[in-house]
Amino acid sequence: MKKIVVANWKMFPNTLQEAEDLFRVSVGAIVCPPFVYLEELSRLRKVAGQAKIKSVPELGAQDIISGEILRQFGVKYVIIGHSDRRWKLGEPGEIVNKKLKLALSNELMPIVCVGEKSRDGDFESFLENQVLATFAGLASGQIEKCLIAYEPVWAISTTPGARPDTPESALESIKIIKDTLIGNWKLEIGNSPKALYGGSVTSANVRDFLVKNEISGVLVGGASLDKEEFKKIIEIASNV
Ligand code: PGA
Repeated sequence: MKKIVVANWKMFPNTLQEAEDLFRVSVGAIVCPPFVYLEELSRLRKVAGQAKIKSVPELGAQDIISGEILRQFGVKYVIIGHSDRRWKLGEPGEIVNKKLKLALSNELMPIVCVGEKSRDGDFESFLENQVLATFAGLASGQIEKCLIAYEPVWAISTTPGARPDTPESALESIKIIKDTLIGNWKLEIGNSPKALYGGSVTSANVRDFLVKNEISGVLVGGASLDKEEFKKIIEIASNV
């Protein structure tokens, strides 16, 4: 099974030129740039398409604005419920849920982020409740169309004191997430959404996560901004 690599550039790089350079080396990945770079990156995709070059990165958005606008730029994926939005910008669960529905109704594939803030205490119930709130009101067929990104907030590189999760504990959380979906929405086990892991993924640890069957890909923040490092990540992911 081909593993999925998503680059979440957040508010980087600082210049359009750097964004173009980074995009060119991100073949094989889904790149989620800041909105202001979408137009130019979608133009690069078109130029490549006209030259019959098939190997270009896919485009994703970091949040949903108008689905119609995003689709015009060839965007196929959209990150929903990233922890920066949930925790730094205070986006409540109901808004995350509405955005998820909006993405689905616009035929964009949602990359739905869930993850606990801390591993202390009853993180299992926290995760379960977050999943229930995030997917509330969706039909099972809609949930099956999503990608889920398990991103423990404490493991994300911009969190002070961050350290990557271990593949084993990520698997424990992914199991809680999938069991919650399967149990509440009666999903067919084989149709439950694919799970990605995100949180300080680098070329040094990506293989350890991706060798696990239950981990279908990675969502990479900081390391996706370094050309050499990201090329290595893509290369490793394509050979797992
Ligand atoms: P990181 O970010 O890879 O820099 O930890 C991941 C994310 O926030 O999506």
